[in-house]
Amino acid sequence: MILETIVSTVDRDGRPNFAPMGITLEGGRVLLRPFRTAVTWKNLLETREGVVNFTDNVLLFARCAVDAFTPPHRAAHRVRAGILEDACSWKEFVVESQDLGEDRGRFLGRVVDEGRARDFAGFNRAKHAVIEATILATRLHLLGRERVLEEIARLRPLVDKTAGAAEREAFDFLAEHAQRWRDAG
Ligand SMILES: Cc1cc2nc3c(=O)[nH]c(=O)nc-3n(C[C@H](O)[C@H](O)[C@H](O)COP(=O)(O)O)c2cc1C
Repeated sequence: MILETIVSTVDRDGRPNFAPMGITLEGGRVLLRPFRTAVTWKNLLETREGVVNFTDNVLLFARCAVDAFTPPHRAAHRVRAGILEDACSWKEFVVESQDLGEDRGRFLGRVVDEGRARDFAGFNRAKHAVIEATILATRLHLLGRERVLEEIARLRPLVDKTAGAAEREAFDFLAEHAQRWRDAG
């Protein structure tokens, strides 16, 4: 099962990066699959450690995916990377092995520490819609603006019916980001 998380890493100069990533848990290990173009790929090669943050704060997913946004965070215990202030729980990992043969890498990390800060809020359709809209926003260059705007319009009723203020803000932020996008060529 793939879990949607926010992965934090730092580069060799200690600059932090937070990116939504689908990860898989395998016993005491975490499998990350960043694309070659992702800062996360570069950072995992440079510093070989990070934190997988589990959060239901979908505004953080939206902002970290399409902005160079550094959310409120604190230092992890065992690795150089940030724990989100709004994480429900987290796992700190050290990269044990990697496969860089394809455009989407496989980094297998050993969990070296973990923690829990607060309860997960529960299922919500607007939160789900924001996660889907965030994925669409990161694929604008592949799908094109019109297709992404159509898909976002299909998701909007879920937000209108069930969102709180943060989900509404996140969804509007993504819709505006897609509106502003200019397709290449
Ligand atoms: C829910 C979700 C899951 C994602 N999973 C991945 C992933 O597994 N690998 C990846 O490279 N990008 C993934 N993305 C897209 C990245 O978050 C996005 O491209 C981001 O800009 C990459 O950040 P980085 O360049 O700072 O590493 C995902 C986005 C979302 C919203």
